[in-house]
Amino acid sequence: MKFIEIAKRRHSTRKYTDYTLTEEDKKSISHLLRSLSSLDKKITLNWVISEDIKKASAFIYSAVKQVPDELVCYGFQGEEIVIGLTRMGFDTCWQASTADGYPARILLGKASGEKAFSEMFVKKGRRPLDSFVQGKENLTPVLKEVLEPAILAPSALNKQPWKFEIRPDERLLISVDNPKGADLKYVELGIVLYHALAAARDNDPLSSVRKVTEQAYELVLGRSQGRA
Ligand SMILES: Cc1cc2nc3c(=O)[nH]c(=O)nc-3n(C[C@H](O)[C@H](O)[C@H](O)COP(=O)(O)O)c2cc1C
Repeated sequence: MKFIEIAKRRHSTRKYTDYTLTEEDKKSISHLLRSLSSLDKKITLNWVISEDIKKASAFIYSAVKQVPDELVCYGFQGEEIVIGLTRMGFDTCWQASTADGYPARILLGKASGEKAFSEMFVKKGRRPLDSFVQGKENLTPVLKEVLEPAILAPSALNKQPWKFEIRPDERLLISVDNPKGADLKYVELGIVLYHALAAARDNDPLSSVRKVTEQAYELVLGRSQGRA
């Protein structure tokens, strides 16, 4: 299934049924947690699942250092988990956490179909793609296929804090608005990087992401590699 289809299927669920995970579910989820890709080989996160929660079937989190590189990795791998869970038929929601040791956790379960009261205060949908993009004159059909699923990424309060700068050689610089002091922004940067890379790899598995600064990463499409 194309990444865009799964990105469209994912949405945040805040009310769950009382579904209890089966042994088969737990096996599939622990396989997912052990086979995550890596944005930075120097950083290892140890994702764990806990069923010690009433409002969903379980939640997933990892201890992480509160430094930009680790938080970006946290968002990247966390969203890989969210997308993997969506593929398995689970509903999910990132939830900002005040607990020590991790900035946000991932709730999972089966949607009850009811809406949570808090949802009334969150803006729905996404801003137009154009509003995030600098260098529109360099937009190609391939990059459009990357950007459309990228802006379906979740973000706290649906703030959509991303910026995309398209370079003439089809390289895409991805950053977040004013991340200073706000740990969640780095997590959100990791989340949108996962979406952009997964979409790019649908077209070309050699596509990659590299860090440019603490707040900006570059997506290199497989076919532009080596063009410098
Ligand atoms: C890092 C992060 C933290 C979030 N924290 C919360 C939260 O504490 N409570 C909540 O209801 N939703 C939370 N969300 C979900 C967002 O509100 C949701 O992604 C956004 O409204 C877009 O909706 P969608 O995910 O259905 O596309 C969070 C999302 C992210 C990425």
